[in-house]
Amino acid sequence: MVENGESVTGDLFGEPSEVRLGDGAHLLKGFALAEAARLLDGVRQVAEVAPFRIMHTPGGKPMSAAMTGCGSYSWVSDRAGYRYSATDPQTGQPWPAMPADLLALAQSAAAAAGYPGFTPDVCLINRYEAGSRMGLHQDKDERDLSAPIVSVSLGLPMTFLWGGHKRNDRPARLLLEHGDVVVWGGPDRLRYHGVAPLKAGSHPLTGGCRINLTFRRAV
Ligand code: SIN
Ligand code: FE2
Repeated sequence: MVENGESVTGDLFGEPSEVRLGDGAHLLKGFALAEAARLLDGVRQVAEVAPFRIMHTPGGKPMSAAMTGCGSYSWVSDRAGYRYSATDPQTGQPWPAMPADLLALAQSAAAAAGYPGFTPDVCLINRYEAGSRMGLHQDKDERDLSAPIVSVSLGLPMTFLWGGHKRNDRPARLLLEHGDVVVWGGPDRLRYHGVAPLKAGSHPLTGGCRINLTFRRAV
């Protein structure tokens, strides 16, 4: 198991492998690799209808990653606060349906990590460019905390900060590469997590970006 403050890098000889991050949390190295191009096609389709945008915190600060989403709901943040919304505030329309390839991948990753029967109603999509980051936070706006979070990394590698149950627990640093999936639930569902600033680079499928998909059961 990865201890706080520990650094985990690389994959084991390029084979899909699993790293335990806690009793209820797993890093599935390369789990989405074979599906990555299809997942990115799905992201492009979603973004045609619900474009990536920079949201603002309730305090008015721009967030570092651009976001969109699909499914029955997605997460939004503005002056009125954080919430899940059935419509995209930018277009007034419902969020695009979750592409079947995205849903299938989320369900198989959840099952592989010990969470069979996962039925996400949200896929939040984050797009990071060089220098973008996400500070330590808990995912706690979901009503049903018995469902896990499934997080899929595509494109440029980024350092994931895997913290504890208290904000000031020192986080482990894990390199998340193209095709990696992290699943956290059960006793680890409310662990603090974030990502360190993205280093500039170029990836054959995403150019200068990293795309992260987080599947949630929100409502
Ligand atoms: C998130 O916590 O919502 C995103 C984490 C990530 O980009 O890996
Ligand atoms: Fe999160």
